[in-house]
Amino acid sequence: MTYDKKLIIGLFGFGVVGEGIYRVLKQTPTLQAEIKRICIKQADKKRNAPMELFTTDADLLLNDPEINVIVELIDDAEAAWHIVSTSLGCGKSVVSANKKMIAAHLAELLHLQDENKTSFLYEAAVCGSIPVIRNLEEYYDNDMLNSVTGIINGSTNYILTRMNEDGMPYEDALKLAQQLGFAESDPSLDVQGTDAANKLTIILNHAYGIVSEPSEIMCEGITRLHPADSVYAKEKGYSIKLVARAQRLNQTDVAAYVLPTFVAPGSQLFNVRFEFNGVIIGTRLADEQFIYGKGAGRYPTSSAVLSDIAALRYGYKYEYKKLYTGVDYRISEDHLLRIYVSCENINDINQQDFDTIDETYTSQNRKYITGSITFSKLRNADWLKNNENSVIVFQDSANGENHQLEELE
Ligand code: HSE
Repeated sequence: MTYDKKLIIGLFGFGVVGEGIYRVLKQTPTLQAEIKRICIKQADKKRNAPMELFTTDADLLLNDPEINVIVELIDDAEAAWHIVSTSLGCGKSVVSANKKMIAAHLAELLHLQDENKTSFLYEAAVCGSIPVIRNLEEYYDNDMLNSVTGIINGSTNYILTRMNEDGMPYEDALKLAQQLGFAESDPSLDVQGTDAANKLTIILNHAYGIVSEPSEIMCEGITRLHPADSVYAKEKGYSIKLVARAQRLNQTDVAAYVLPTFVAPGSQLFNVRFEFNGVIIGTRLADEQFIYGKGAGRYPTSSAVLSDIAALRYGYKYEYKKLYTGVDYRISEDHLLRIYVSCENINDINQQDFDTIDETYTSQNRKYITGSITFSKLRNADWLKNNENSVIVFQDSANGENHQLEELE
C-alpha cells in the first residue's frame, strides 16, 4: 500500500502544541504533510516561523480549496466549533484537541461526519499521548467491554501528587500545574472535574456508543477535599485520585461519573503520579488491561496530534462501531456506590439517603460517614450542595454484572 495522499494543512493556533507540530512536520518530509497557512489571533506577536505563513483571517484557510486538512489547536471552544463544523461541511479532514468543544457538540459532529464523509480525528483530546480513542475504536471494536476506569486529567493528578507526597499547599500546586502548561487556561475546568467529564463523554461514545452531554455525567473535582480526608486515606493505605469511570451494569445500563476516589495499592491507578494518566480497560475476554502515559503538556499532546495527521495519509476515519452494535446503552443512575462523606456537622448529612451505613465517626475536627447509597440519591442530595462537605467514592464500588464467557464444553 502506498501513502501518496499529500496533506496540505491549514493550522489554527500557534501556541505550544501548534508550534511543536509545525516544527515536527518541517523536519519530517516523509510524512508528506505541509502547513500552507497558519491562523492566529494576535498579528503582532513574534513567531518562530516565516511571517508570510500567518494570517488572522480564518476564511483564507477555510475557503482555500488546496487545503485538505484543518488542524485546530485553539483554546476557545466556540470559535473551534465554527472552524471544525465549517471545515467538515466543505469536505476537509479535521484534527482537533478540543475536548470541551467535542463533548459539547458530539451529536452534531457525528452527523457532520456522516453527511460529508470526512475524517474528524481527536486522539489528543483524551489523555494526551495515550491512544485511548484509537484503542477503543479498533482493538475493542466489539461489545465486550465491561468498564473503562481512569485518571484522565493530568493537572488534578499533578496537584494531588504534590499535595500528598510533598505536602505542598493546594494553591502552590495549582500554580505549578499552570506554569508547566498542564492546566486549562481556565483551571476551574480541571479542578472542578469538568475537563474529565468532557473526556468521559467522548470515551462513553467510543466505548459504548452513548451520545450524551457532559452535564449528564456527575462530576466532583478536587476542590472540596479536606486535609482530614488525606489523613483517613493514609490510615487505610489508600491514595486519593480523581477518577473517571464508565461501568457496564447490565445489557442496557452504564454507570458514568467523575469523582475523587480512594484507590487501593493493588490498583494500577495507585502509582499513576504527577501529570501522567492511566486507563484500565475491563473486558469480557482479557480481564483487565492498563494503558499509561503522559496526559498533558506540549509534547505528549503534539504526539497524539501528529499521529492523527499521519493517519489521514491513508484516509483513516473513526467508524463509531459501537453506535451500530444494536445494543442501546444509556447512562443509569440506579446503582449503588460505596462512599465516604466528610463534614463539619454530622447533622448536615441526611443519613436516610443511605441504603446502609458502615461507619460513622465524629471528632472535634471533622466527621465522616461511610456507606452505600443509590447514585441518584447522591447526585441529588441537598447536603452535597454544601461545598464544605466532601465526597469520595471507594474504587470499583459501581459493579455491574461483568459479563463473562460461558465455559466451553
Ligand atoms: N488540562 C488538561 C489536563 C490538559 O490537565 O489533563 C490535557 O487534556
